[in-house]
Amino acid sequence: MKSDVKPATFAAHAGGAYDDVSGGVVPPIQPSTTYRRDADYAPMNADNVYIRPHNEPVRAAEKVIAKLEGAVDSLLFPAGMAAIAAGFRWLPSGARAVVQSGIYWGTTKWLRGFADRRGITLIEVDASDPEALAQAIGDQVDIVFVETPSNPWLKTVDIAQAAEMTHASGGILMVDSTAASPILTKPLNLGADIVMHSATKVLNGHSDVLGGVLSAGAMTDVWQAITEDRAETGAVMGPFEAWLLLRGLRTLPLRLDRMCHSAQKIADYLQDHPQITEVYYPGLATHAGHGIAARQMDGGFGYVLSALVKGTAEDALRVAGRLELFLSATSIGGVESLVEHRHTIEPHSGIPETLLRLSIGIEDPGDLIADLAQALGQ
Ligand SMILES: Cc1ncc(COP(=O)(O)O)c(C=O)c1O
Repeated sequence: MKSDVKPATFAAHAGGAYDDVSGGVVPPIQPSTTYRRDADYAPMNADNVYIRPHNEPVRAAEKVIAKLEGAVDSLLFPAGMAAIAAGFRWLPSGARAVVQSGIYWGTTKWLRGFADRRGITLIEVDASDPEALAQAIGDQVDIVFVETPSNPWLKTVDIAQAAEMTHASGGILMVDSTAASPILTKPLNLGADIVMHSATKVLNGHSDVLGGVLSAGAMTDVWQAITEDRAETGAVMGPFEAWLLLRGLRTLPLRLDRMCHSAQKIADYLQDHPQITEVYYPGLATHAGHGIAARQMDGGFGYVLSALVKGTAEDALRVAGRLELFLSATSIGGVESLVEHRHTIEPHSGIPETLLRLSIGIEDPGDLIADLAQALGQ
């Protein structure tokens, strides 16, 4: 395929038309855990010895993600959290790490324990505030980790500015871009060193694969260490999951287009609703990070939004319980819309009791708004 085609064209053919054996238009699944050698004991295919580092469907999906991301290389992991852990495991004890506060709770929880065990200084900061971020980074830092837009607060971090600050203090910038996707934001082009996604979310998009991915802007020593660590620890995705992910990637631009349009309509609707006291969505002109989001997101403001319901925790739970199209479940990025009362999941992290997080799927936006209207009692 020509190299200058648009992402939707490239994605539609993701990994496809390369099965020269059968002539099939989709890639085959090669689940073999090991590969044969010839009579001279040389691998029959020089790229393939053993599945841990050499897995065909994984390679195919990685190539598609690297291309969409504008990366020199991508590595798939068996979960988003496995990707995050690999992105930090190369740090020596005594290192200094700065991490955005109020992000996905699983990341914060794991990082606190890891830093404690490894003797790493971990500084948590509201990275959407550039002055606070600069102060936290100080004169020397090894890694800065931000999540933008953040989950579930939808805070926006200026990636280019964060990269500049991080590099000036000798560190690398890793960005969790799960809520943006490589279609809307390209952190590596903005100066980030490593971009991370939970592939469980919109990359796969069908709520049926657990996965994560790291992509690099350059082949550095850190990237080499991460690559070796993945192969040696076996933190790899399996071939069946990679094949499903490849299939999901084919419709990524199409799904995102619908999801972003619907999310914007729903955010606009909720903002004017008398039973809603606050809406967090970077696409709203009133959102604190709207200007930054408009600069670094292209084609929409994402598929996640949060809203505060008027009243108490019981009122918010009642609204969630009345919704029919929005399924009550954790996670984001699937074709089906989901609602989550995050305070129930993480009451200790300061999430307001009335906050509902919505993941907008590909249903008709009018139907989704009608569902919200009936649940809010309009
Ligand atoms: C923003 C973000 N990052 C990382 C993760 C972790 O990904 P996984 O569940 O695939 O391990 C999640 C999961 O919800 C997430 O929302």
